[in-house]
Amino acid sequence: MLRTSMTIQKRLFSSARTLAKDVNNLTVIGGGQMGLGIALVAANKAGVNVKLVDTSDAALDKGMAFLQKLLSKDIKKGRLTEEQAKDITARVTPTTDLTGALKDTDMVIEAVPEIPDLKFKIFSQLAKEAPADAILATNTSSISITKIAAAAKGAENRVVAAHFMNPVPVQPGVEIIQALQTDKSIVDDTLAFVGRMGKVPSLAKDSPGFIANRILVPYINEAVIVLESGIGSAKDIDAMMVNGCAMPMGPLALADFIGLDTCFAIMNVLYKDTGDSKYRPSVLLGKMVDAGWLGKKSGKGFYEYK
Ligand code: NAI
Repeated sequence: MLRTSMTIQKRLFSSARTLAKDVNNLTVIGGGQMGLGIALVAANKAGVNVKLVDTSDAALDKGMAFLQKLLSKDIKKGRLTEEQAKDITARVTPTTDLTGALKDTDMVIEAVPEIPDLKFKIFSQLAKEAPADAILATNTSSISITKIAAAAKGAENRVVAAHFMNPVPVQPGVEIIQALQTDKSIVDDTLAFVGRMGKVPSLAKDSPGFIANRILVPYINEAVIVLESGIGSAKDIDAMMVNGCAMPMGPLALADFIGLDTCFAIMNVLYKDTGDSKYRPSVLLGKMVDAGWLGKKSGKGFYEYK
């Protein structure tokens, strides 16, 4: 009896590993700062073919130009040869045709903006159009994986989160989050794949903010509240946290880097899903998002960017 159940477990485990080895074609949806980073590391370290999907040629051109910039940096620093960079570029195909990209995909990683209805719509399409054994992963920072899985009607058990950290080529950490509906084999396959990408995974439960953002974003939000309360200037707040608290960068500079829209969206999820007033988003943060001051990506946030 014991041996039989061990054999079944072994079989499940080995089928999970086999599937992971079979991820040759990856679809990344959203060619912004996260999607582009994921595409680059997957093509470089895991050696897979990547379809990078965005809504317009302009967005894709911007993404591919950024990819070239990152590769040139790697060549200059001696981390890649020109030949290797060419191979990596050849493995990444930009496209606006999601349906076409899904045809032969083994795994999807969605990295569109942190808007729940947008993600639900995409996962509903993935359930209908992706191959029946494809892993359907989201890079959401805060939206319930269980809710995203529920939107993938008929494919709920294949939805998982692979929450990469920014910048993806630099940060080794990835949170792997299982929805209530996710099959364990999908979690195992995802762990194996991020391992091929050279990442170090942490397992987290599907709970508001998971591990990283449950801790990090309230810290950033508090720094914005300190600023709006007039306790210190942006420069002084950041300098104190860097020089006095051993943080590698100040919370407001970090917010600009992450994107103020993303930070605000995460705080709103923490506030709404826990019902706890300690997660109230800063009013100033919301106003800056309304003004389109999203940080580095828009040229203005707590600081100005050329
Ligand atoms: P971004 O705004 O830089 O990029 C989003 C991209 O998605 C844009 O290129 C946009 O044109 C594209 N897009 C929008 N609708 C689309 C659609 N229907 N189909 C295909 N592409 C579409 O955003 P970013 O920062 O890359 O964030 C993406 C996701 O990653 C969000 O869920 C965010 O919460 C998460 N994330 C962000 C981190 C950060 O530090 N910015 C860190 C970890 C996760």
